Amino acid sequence: MSKPPNFKQELVGVFGKPVSENPTQAMIEAAFRHHGLDWRYLTIEVDPADLADAVRGARVMGFAGFNCTIPHKVAVIPYLDGLGESADLMGAVNCVVRRGDRFVGENTDGKGFVKSLREIVDPQGKRVVIFGAGGASRAIAVETALAGAAQITIINRSEARGRELRDLLESKLRLSAEFVPWTTAVAIPKGTDVLINATSIGLYPDIDARLPIDFDSVDPHMVVADVIPNPPKTHLVRLAHERGCRVIDGLGMLVNQGVIGLKYWTGIDADPSVMRGALEAIFSDTM
Ligand SMILES: NC(=O)c1ccc[n+]([C@@H]2O[C@H](COP(=O)([O-])OP(=O)(O)OC[C@H]3O[C@@H](n4cnc5c(N)ncnc54)[C@H](OP(=O)(O)O)[C@@H]3O)[C@@H](O)[C@H]2O)c1
Repeated sequence: MSKPPNFKQELVGVFGKPVSENPTQAMIEAAFRHHGLDWRYLTIEVDPADLADAVRGARVMGFAGFNCTIPHKVAVIPYLDGLGESADLMGAVNCVVRRGDRFVGENTDGKGFVKSLREIVDPQGKRVVIFGAGGASRAIAVETALAGAAQITIINRSEARGRELRDLLESKLRLSAEFVPWTTAVAIPKGTDVLINATSIGLYPDIDARLPIDFDSVDPHMVVADVIPNPPKTHLVRLAHERGCRVIDGLGMLVNQGVIGLKYWTGIDADPSVMRGALEAIFSDTM
């Protein structure tokens, strides 16, 4: 006998504001189709004043979970029933997961980054330099520290934010960390293994914006990563390629945080190449 028709799909999605340019739906629904899952990923604009109601709505409508993006990553925490280890350390949630009747806040941004990094190099024992101290940088720094990095240097325009992240790494993760002030041409310290742009420099439409790096100090043995997904070929990605470095673009982190979120929600190991293909189709004119 054939399966009876089912018109009630499982639901996940993203809450944000603004959110209409967030491409996650295309990436996640490509995975649903590929793996034959009768699920939907909804892109939902939620005003900060309505966040509590939106989370209550997700509960009563049986959502399996949802992503949170700007401006809800911190504000959502009081409406959840618990936090995973790294979300707790970072104080930010980008992926809510229903476990039984509880909504648990996780942070998959840093885990997605580390998954991309591990495809090239194991962070264990490595010396890492990170530009930025905002949400993406905190997620990457905490998760790279949990993965065993030996040393992390934070370089950020705002000293207060940079020092706060350095202090978090030292106090909560017992890591050797330092803060280096932002200057016009930062020399990357000798012995650096991994160099990461976790600022929004290079993001569309300001695609010619450049990090203040003295590129003569970028050694071909370094792995260079950029979080900017649009366009994926940032100035940093192009120059690092030219210098012979191994490079991770912002699509790598975006795809891998999605793979981890899908595993939390559905239990499947999604095919990252299908998800990357959906994003490349969207960003094809900027690749
Ligand atoms: N690929 C992915 O999966 C993924 C995931 C998450 C985020 N991202 C990307 O990561 C980027 C950062 O996101 P976020 O959530 O961390 O944002 P955020 O919390 O607002 O932090 C922005 C960071 O960029 C720095 N910055 C911005 N403009 C700058 C400028 N003109 N000069 C110097 N520094 C500047 C800020 O420095 P100050 O502290 O001095 O303001 C801060 O460190 C965004 O472009 C986002 O698209 C990518």
